[in-house]
Amino acid sequence: MKKFSELLYSYEVEDKLAISKRETHTPKIEAPKEVKAGEVFPVRIYIEGHPNTVQHSFRWIELYFYEEGRDFNPIFVARAELTPEISEQEATFKVKLNKSGVIYAVAYCNLHGVWENRQEIKVG
Ligand SMILES: [Fe+2]
Repeated sequence: MKKFSELLYSYEVEDKLAISKRETHTPKIEAPKEVKAGEVFPVRIYIEGHPNTVQHSFRWIELYFYEEGRDFNPIFVARAELTPEISEQEATFKVKLNKSGVIYAVAYCNLHGVWENRQEIKVG
């Protein structure tokens, strides 16, 4: 029996079927590499080249943060629920950090599972 963490896909996936899906399913992250402590900045998460129909679409996007030096990670940051055809498959969250770490974008396609991507953010 697989652990839930083994069910998460990312760009580095080794499964042949999933490799064919990685370009259109790995969530892309648009966020600064460096920010000032306590300063609000946008994190845009989007999916490119993927269908957006009732039969096949991304249904939600979540953002988590791995904070350096914290005993338990990650921290849940935000979630966007998407309605097929009406909502574009993207979300922008306004975020404020006090410590450096890694942001994780997680998105769910109803046919191809949960996909993850990450980006390091330095807080100065
Ligand atoms: Fe899909």
